[in-house]
Amino acid sequence: MKKILVIHGPNLNLLGQREPSIYGAATLDEINQKLTKVAQDFVELVILQSNHEGDIVDAIGKAPQDGVDAIVINPAAYTHTSVAIRDAIAAVNVPTVEVHLSNIYKREDFRHHSMIASVAVGQVSGFGLQSYVLGLMAAVDLAQGT
Ligand code: DQA
Repeated sequence: MKKILVIHGPNLNLLGQREPSIYGAATLDEINQKLTKVAQDFVELVILQSNHEGDIVDAIGKAPQDGVDAIVINPAAYTHTSVAIRDAIAAVNVPTVEVHLSNIYKREDFRHHSMIASVAVGQVSGFGLQSYVLGLMAAVDLAQGT
């Protein structure tokens, strides 16, 4: 069975209570349960949430040794700042899908630029919880090489 690594970046552990008018009411646990349900029968999911850039860089860097076939990442605030996460994705040969709950292009100017977009296969932005589901479906295809 193919393996997909789902990475949630900083402050996404606060979903549910964090600016629900922007990010929705679902908690991170609820999002992870939904993804686990969608993934079952297709792929194995490994899920990580971290508020620390280095942890995310480490997880991406060891994805090939860990047998990861595709990555779904919501880099959260690091989307807009992290050369290190961008370089980690570029360094490993693991297809990566970038997801955002909110539509980052409808928000403040500083959110309009993604450091990650140019190294991701594609991006899903603005569909709330469904962004993750769509991103996961894309990652399943990429992992299976279809
Ligand atoms: C986010 C958008 C980012 O700009 C923000 O910093 C986040 C969440 C999203 O999922 O909409 O933390 O990635």
